[in-house]
Amino acid sequence: MGQMLNIALPKGRLGEKVYDIFEAAGYDCPALLEPNRRLIFENERAGVRYFWAKPTDVPIYVERGAADIGVAGKDILLEYAPDVYELLDLHMGRCRMCVAGPADFRDDYARTLRVATKFPNIARRHYSAQSRQIDIIKLNGSIELAPIVGLSDVIVDIVETGKTLEENGLLPLETIAPISARLIANKARYKFVGDEINALCTRVAALVRDREETT
Ligand code: PRP
Repeated sequence: MGQMLNIALPKGRLGEKVYDIFEAAGYDCPALLEPNRRLIFENERAGVRYFWAKPTDVPIYVERGAADIGVAGKDILLEYAPDVYELLDLHMGRCRMCVAGPADFRDDYARTLRVATKFPNIARRHYSAQSRQIDIIKLNGSIELAPIVGLSDVIVDIVETGKTLEENGLLPLETIAPISARLIANKARYKFVGDEINALCTRVAALVRDREETT
């Protein structure tokens, strides 16, 4: 029997979908499905201990080694650039990072562009590659509100179905990056429990491929 793997999952719908795959891959933990508010679940037989972490915090647990592996959105990885290994694209939680704004938006290069976002690093990198001067307005949610009420000219945000933009009279103007959930690993722990991590990664990758083929 190998070492116990500590796995940080993002609390919420994506995390539950990811757990379904891990369960099918043989890393089940039935206690996790019980309706309660516990945050840690363990199944010694399967060699796993799961943590429910806030999605943006998953890379922090993994980077610091409190979790050996975890699942985080590419958006969070691009924004915080944690020092972790990115092992696998789970092809789940698919969406894209976009610049969006009013349909009649025309960029006026004589002015600093005001960009509202939850992802200041992604926005800064995107515009600095275009040598475009911007003023970042960091918000924590309901980003679509900003250009409507004149707080910003555009937003940098996640677009999944496009419904939120549409219902608020906004349009995606540019795609910055495709986003999906990624399996990440702590670099030092990968040296110690690499066999266990690779075994899990291989089984999960096979299931992800199967699902891709049937959808
Ligand atoms: C995300 C994102 C958009 C919306 C996109 O918001 O910030 O607002 O989902 O989804 P859609 O394209 O399918 O409409 P989230 O629900 O995470 O809430 P918040 O950013 O407002 O906190």
